[in-house]
Amino acid sequence: MEKIIVEGKNKLFGEISIGGMKNSALPVLYACLLTEGECIIKNVPEVSDIINTLEILRGLGAEAVFCDKNTVRINAKYATNIIKHPDLVSKMRASYYLMGALLARFGYVNINLPGGCNFGERPIEQHLKGFETMGAKCTQNEGKIEIKARKKLKSHKLTLDKISVGATINMVIASVFLDGITLIENCAIEPHVDDLIRFLNKCGAKIARSGRTICIRGVKKLNGTEYRIFPDMIEALTYVCFTAIAGGSVTLHSIEPSHLKYCISIFDNMGIKLSVYDKSLCVSRIGNMKGADVVTAPYPLFPTDMHPQFSALLCYSENGGSVKDDIFPTRFAYVNELKKLGANIDLIGNVAFVNNSEMKGTALDATDLRAGASLVAASLGAEGRSEINNVNFIVRGYENLVEKLSSLGGKIKLLNN
Ligand code: EPU
Repeated sequence: MEKIIVEGKNKLFGEISIGGMKNSALPVLYACLLTEGECIIKNVPEVSDIINTLEILRGLGAEAVFCDKNTVRINAKYATNIIKHPDLVSKMRASYYLMGALLARFGYVNINLPGGCNFGERPIEQHLKGFETMGAKCTQNEGKIEIKARKKLKSHKLTLDKISVGATINMVIASVFLDGITLIENCAIEPHVDDLIRFLNKCGAKIARSGRTICIRGVKKLNGTEYRIFPDMIEALTYVCFTAIAGGSVTLHSIEPSHLKYCISIFDNMGIKLSVYDKSLCVSRIGNMKGADVVTAPYPLFPTDMHPQFSALLCYSENGGSVKDDIFPTRFAYVNELKKLGANIDLIGNVAFVNNSEMKGTALDATDLRAGASLVAASLGAEGRSEINNVNFIVRGYENLVEKLSSLGGKIKLLNN
C-alpha cells in the first residue's frame, strides 16, 4: 500500500504547470464514441480515472491510448455497446457518460450503476428523466440499468429539476444526433460543460449555450478532430491552498484565469497575495491570513470540489470561518481526519465551523479525492511528519502531486510498502 509522507512547515517556492481538467477530459473521452474518425485529445491528465476510462473504451472495441505525454488517441469506429469492464464502470462516476454515448450511437445500453467518490447519496434520476424525455425506456435492476430507445429517439425540450454537471453533459452527448432542435434548460455551466460543447462542435456538432440553456441542432454524424482540454481549475485552486498554508511564493502556469475569478476574490479578501499574468497566477502568503465563510454552489460560485481543501486552509487562518456544502451535504468525512491533526472544527449539519488550530503531523486516511488533497494541504502547515494512507483516492485526480510539490521544495514523498 502506498502512502504519502509530508514533513510540515516547509515553505513552497518556484513554478509548476497546471494540467488538463480531469472532469472535462472524462466526458470528452466518452464522447469520442460518437465520432467516426480519429480523435487526438491533448492536455489529458494521466490520472487513474482517465487510465480506467481508456481501459473501458478499449473494452468496447475502440482504440484508446496515450500516444504521447498527456495526449490520447481514440478511434471508436469499431466500438460496440458490449461493456467488458463492468468492474471499472462501478468504480468511477464518469462512467455514467457511457449511458448517453452508447444510447446515442446504438440506441441501447445495459450498464452497472456508476461508483465514484463516496460522500453520500449521488442520485442520477435527472439523467434518466432526460433519456425518457427523448423516448428511451430506463429500467433499473440489481445494480444495473438498461436504457433502450423505444423507437427513434426524438429531439425534445427538457428542464432539469436540479443543476447537475453529469445530467447536463449526458443530455448533450445523448442529443447530438436527434433530428430537429433539442433545448435543455437549467443546465450546469461549469467549464467542463463548455469544454465538451467546444469539442463536439469541432467534430461537426451544432450546439450553443446561452446562460443555463443549451440548444442542440441534430447532425447526422461527427468527424474525428484534434482538441485541447481546458486547464484544471480545481488543481490550480488546490495549489493556491497548498501555497497559502505552507507559505512562500509559487507561480502556476497554464491556468485559465476566467475560471478562477470567484475563488480568487475570496482568497484575495483573506490576505493571500494573487497576481494574474495572462495564463499564469502568482500566489504568495507572507503574513497572517484572515478567515472566510463560503457556501458551495454551482459554477460560477464556490465549487464543492474545493470544499475540503478550503476547510484545511481555514485551520491556518487567524479568525477561522465556515464552509457550508449545499451540493453534497455529507461531504465531511475529512473532518475527523483533520481533527487527528489538531483541527478545531465543529460540524453542525452541512456546515463546518473551522477555528484557528494548532496542527501537528500524524497518521491520516484519505477518504476520497478532495478529502485526500485537504489532508495534504493541512499536513504542509502542520508541525512534524504526517503519513497519508489511501493514496489511491488522491491519484484519481491529481497528476504528479508528489513530484510537483517536491519541485517547489515541499518535503513530501511517496512510500511503497
Ligand atoms: N443530483 C440529483 N439528481 C441527479 C443528478 C444530480 O439530485 O440526477 C444532485 C446531486 O446529488 C448533487 C447535485 O445534484 O446534490 C450536483 O450533482 P452533479 O450531478 O453536478 O454531480 P456529478 O455529476 O455526480 C460532478 C463531478 C464531481 C463534482 C460535481 C459537482 C465528475 C465526474 N464529477 O459530479 O467531481 O463534485 O460534479 O461539481 O465530473 C471530484 O472531481 O472530486 C468530483 C466529485
